[in-house]
Amino acid sequence: MNHTPDLKAAAIKGGVATDQRHDSAHKHVSGTAVYIDDMPEPAGTLHGCLGLADIAHGTITAMDLSAVRVAPGVVAVLTGADVPGENDISPTGRHDEPILTDTLVQFHGQPIFAVIAETREAARRACRLAKVEYDALPFVTDIGALDPLNDKLVTPPLTLKRGDAADAIAAAPRRVSGRMRIGGQDHFYLEGHIALAIPGEDQDVTVYSSTQHPSEVQHMVSHALGVPSHAVTVEIRRMGGGFGGKETQSNQFAAIAAIAAKKLNRAVKIRPDRDDDMTATGKRHDFLVDYEVGFDDEGNILGVDLVYAARCGFSSDLSGPVTDRALFHCDNAYFWPAVKAVSAPLYTNTVSNTAFRGFGGPQGMIGAERVIDEVAFAVGKDPLEIRKLNFYGPNGDKNGDRNVTPYHQTVEDNIVHRIVAELEESADYARRRRQIAAFNANSRFIKRGLALTPVKFGISFTATHYNQAGALVHVYTDGSVHLNHGGTEMGQGLYVKVAQVVAEEFQIDIDQVKITATTTGKVPNTSATAASSGSDLNGMAAQNAARQIKDRLVDFAADKFQVAADQIVFLPNRVRIGNQEIAFADLVKMAYFARIQLSAAGFYKTPKIHWDRDKGEGHPFYYFAYGASCSEVSVDTLTGEYVVERTDILHETGRSLNRAIDLGQIEGGFIQGMGWLTTEELWWDDKGRLRTHAPSTYKIPLASDRPKIFNVTLADWPEAFEPTIHRSKAVGEPPFMLGMSVFHALSDAVASVADHRICPRLDAPATPERVLMAMERLKGEVAGVSKR
Ligand code: MTE
Ligand code: MOS
Repeated sequence: MNHTPDLKAAAIKGGVATDQRHDSAHKHVSGTAVYIDDMPEPAGTLHGCLGLADIAHGTITAMDLSAVRVAPGVVAVLTGADVPGENDISPTGRHDEPILTDTLVQFHGQPIFAVIAETREAARRACRLAKVEYDALPFVTDIGALDPLNDKLVTPPLTLKRGDAADAIAAAPRRVSGRMRIGGQDHFYLEGHIALAIPGEDQDVTVYSSTQHPSEVQHMVSHALGVPSHAVTVEIRRMGGGFGGKETQSNQFAAIAAIAAKKLNRAVKIRPDRDDDMTATGKRHDFLVDYEVGFDDEGNILGVDLVYAARCGFSSDLSGPVTDRALFHCDNAYFWPAVKAVSAPLYTNTVSNTAFRGFGGPQGMIGAERVIDEVAFAVGKDPLEIRKLNFYGPNGDKNGDRNVTPYHQTVEDNIVHRIVAELEESADYARRRRQIAAFNANSRFIKRGLALTPVKFGISFTATHYNQAGALVHVYTDGSVHLNHGGTEMGQGLYVKVAQVVAEEFQIDIDQVKITATTTGKVPNTSATAASSGSDLNGMAAQNAARQIKDRLVDFAADKFQVAADQIVFLPNRVRIGNQEIAFADLVKMAYFARIQLSAAGFYKTPKIHWDRDKGEGHPFYYFAYGASCSEVSVDTLTGEYVVERTDILHETGRSLNRAIDLGQIEGGFIQGMGWLTTEELWWDDKGRLRTHAPSTYKIPLASDRPKIFNVTLADWPEAFEPTIHRSKAVGEPPFMLGMSVFHALSDAVASVADHRICPRLDAPATPERVLMAMERLKGEVAGVSKR
């Protein structure tokens, strides 16, 4: 009988826009989620350990590995000479990153040999027996000692220009210039790097690699082995966090494990310990931003000149795209009427820096926010007023020209005004601003600070060709579905989101959709799961695959039951065909017997985007994601220690695919961003050694560091401006930059010791030590000012 289904009762489990839990949540918390190190090892598996250089720059004059070779349990020792193919894993083809360096050492901790032994312990002990002699060369670790415009770069710089910044600044009624230092950040994924290589017959090798970029690992391993890509299969079910640190940095471990596995014809696993992982793999770039801004007495910004110098380390890695993205965000949410921004990706004798959540964008934005602060202090207004004054014009604004970015893309989806207005209201900004002023006036040692900062983040890979994705969907004869796509799972919930899309498409419960490990053998030529575009790209590709199968099912059913195609409707777990309903699985079985193909490869490429780097013009982003946060801190002026009293966040997700997952991304992103700007500090000594290479010396936020009051709201009121997957928006990286409000609240608290008359010019990270010193400096300056 044909009946109208009770929609609520009949809805599928786990479709889009439901709070479906992370597919592995229960396994994460019970320890049953299988990471690579949990996989059963093939019989005879060997273990590798990397021998690291102990000078920052120099040539190797002698390397005596005889004691290493005869150490107990050692099976082989590899050097650069053992690389059968090309000894290079530079991801952008610049050929500047050896797997194992032969002669030239360019940073303290650079891998120079690898020990392969029966046990991990034996390999580690043997590593220490090497005797290496060097001719030391002069080295540079700190970019403060370099000239951004004239010293050695690892990759060509970018210039963005609109209008004449120099003229605008010169003609402006007021001007300020300065320099801000922004620290780097270690990824501190809970699961460190790991690769397990299993040799196959002929040239074949399978590599299980904790990587965000299986296709790149495949290519690097194939180059290193000198074999075609078809011989190499790379697979990854899940990472215990990546955060950008596994976009390129997995290549080294995978390449060495594969070389050893093929050479010895045994499985080889390499899992560096935390200290080696932190020493030998790249991090977030630290930056020095030189700024000059021209403005009027109201605080309207008229012209901005910016130089973004970055510590890139010894090789290019992703420093070109990272420093480019810093420039793409040198405006954050603000319209710069005339602007010139230049990047300086500087060569240093440190580990080569790499992708990290936001990919240079956070550093770009915090430069913009410093410019805002400077103007606010100069004209004596609340920084929030100056922020609002300088936002991009709202949509439909007659001042259409206030919507053009420094890279000449027009902002068409601007909702920053509404986000900030709603957050200002819900966080009770104005009243708390007054309360804090009163509190500070009466509190001798504890000072409070408040700040509200916006985020506008561009979504897409800026290299246009990366904006493509593939998926593979099989429907089995029992109606269950096998789902595979090129995206990787690192905890962000990509797998469950894409499964929701497929469940929605077929109108079947999500437990009918099997989420399978990412492998280069099923979906080829994939991009890194990065730039927050995982669900945008892979969701679309999977939907495309599912639709192909659905279309075939519809054609088949129309023919078989002699009804028009529009009489066929996919209802929850069943299909209405004319005036009868059958189970989805029954239709599938019928289609199988009629020899209908029940498998499809899907594909998607992002429309509209283009970018001309030489001109510095284009439309590199499909859309922007927006958010804002408001934080209040209290600072102990005697010690510099602080507490985040309260944070309110309003963050845009479009029509969220999964609010539960998105909420987790927003909370986690904010905390990680706060860690970057507060307690996480990297420190190199005068020998060029990184001394912060373990949790004992490197402080990530603890659960107890979270805001005491933490209100997070999803702004899912506007449907995405562009037709993204189910009108949702990317959420992986943008919330990271919400952490800026904590930094600016600290700056506000510091400023209170000088009555908000002087811009604190706080550098990041604002460790308690730096906060204390900033307050002391300000007190000194006020004293100096009043004496005059
Ligand atoms: N969330 C978790 N739990 N773990 C991670 O490693 N990486 C972030 C973000 N959120 C990360 C995360 C980074 S750097 C990116 S680019 C995106 O997730 C990538 O996934 P997506 O494109 O599917 O959002
Ligand atoms: Mo994220 S830094 O793009 O991996």
